[in-house]
Amino acid sequence: MNVLVVGSGGREHALVRQLAASAQAPRIFACPGNPGISRHAVNTEVDPLSNDAVAAFCREQEIDLVIIGPEAPLINGLADHLRRDGVAVFGPGAMGARLEGDKEFAKEVLASAGVPTPHYHAFSNLESALKHLATVELPVVVKACGAAQGKGVAVCSTREEAEKHIRLCLQDQVFGQSGLRIIMEDCLFGPELSVLIVTDGQDYCLLAPSRDHKRIGEQDKGPNTGGMGAYAPVPLPADLYAQIDTRIVLPVLAELRRRDIPYRGVLYAGLMLTEGGPQVLEFNCRFGDPETQVVLPLYQGDFLDLCWTTATGQLGRHLQGAPRSAAGVPAGWTGAGLTTWDRHAVVVVAASDGYPGTYTRGKAIDLPAEEAPDRWLIHAGTRQGPQGLVTDGGRVLGAVGTGRDLPAARKAAYELLDQVHFEGLTFRRDIAAIGKEGR
Ligand code: GLY
Repeated sequence: MNVLVVGSGGREHALVRQLAASAQAPRIFACPGNPGISRHAVNTEVDPLSNDAVAAFCREQEIDLVIIGPEAPLINGLADHLRRDGVAVFGPGAMGARLEGDKEFAKEVLASAGVPTPHYHAFSNLESALKHLATVELPVVVKACGAAQGKGVAVCSTREEAEKHIRLCLQDQVFGQSGLRIIMEDCLFGPELSVLIVTDGQDYCLLAPSRDHKRIGEQDKGPNTGGMGAYAPVPLPADLYAQIDTRIVLPVLAELRRRDIPYRGVLYAGLMLTEGGPQVLEFNCRFGDPETQVVLPLYQGDFLDLCWTTATGQLGRHLQGAPRSAAGVPAGWTGAGLTTWDRHAVVVVAASDGYPGTYTRGKAIDLPAEEAPDRWLIHAGTRQGPQGLVTDGGRVLGAVGTGRDLPAARKAAYELLDQVHFEGLTFRRDIAAIGKEGR
């Protein structure tokens, strides 16, 4: 099978790595890919935001399956364009991708589905937004309605902070079109959880529950980033697996069907586990980054077959192969048998100094000579320069460790990271350091 993976980050490296392990030995291409991906795939310079260019590449290389990593090409309708050409695509069309590209639309879907989500108000007008701000309880969450690479969301503990973010969106228009409409929503408290729902529109399965560490600083201090590390599986109280499945996943998928929104790909539900039960904070129309780096190593099935059957509407066939019950497999988590629950994975992100603000690129990277079966490096923002590998992004590399328990996986990830060097390397030391409260 000829497979094209669209994207160039850590998520796409993790996807390619998992596809390369398939018994079907696919021929893999990446557009544009990165130096880590090039170990398993052929990188190509095709622009992921040019639907015509990607379609032409698919014709030239007789691509059977396209897996679209980032949200921008999905929101841009790449999946629809390729499907019209007869290519099987893992990733929703523009209608489904609106769940990430338009937060107000996502709220409407949640409301119709009867799924709990924080109470909100939406605004396009600056004066109305500021008038409403004067009445809200603090902290308050201000979000650009469109996709803004994780930077459009601000959790504000003062009115001044909230006003600043509102003005950034509506007045200064720093997020362009994405910030011309905002929502202000109640701030909830509790641990967060990332749930990746793979669906072909009829059948679905849930991958291992994972947790991202979004803030730049330890103890969750400082601004939000794309994610500084993650771990999986997240242990949940026994009744919560079924609660998430029946109260959130099933109603949302049913609502998409009711609205005739076809969805073949992964729907990422960002949840807050509040004292009153799980609530949906956001949807993404793609795999999480860095969650994918820890969820995929726990997947026991053939990942290429999962993607192929999802893209071609045959996911039910793939799921038939999954054991329904075994020791340690949580009841009520659809497709749980596809995940191994007695292994754990941790990824720690090595970022450039200054990230998520401004940072410099082009710093020489020194990597360990070899990896091991329980630990490996994922490339996110690297580039092959004339003198060797250099930094080329805010999040540069992810050190993945796996083990029989979370401390063993953590140890492996941090030992690996210790062997990575570049000027200005920044990382959090508290990834997957679970306290008494289970966070
Ligand atoms: N890790 C958060 C995201 O993928 O959006």
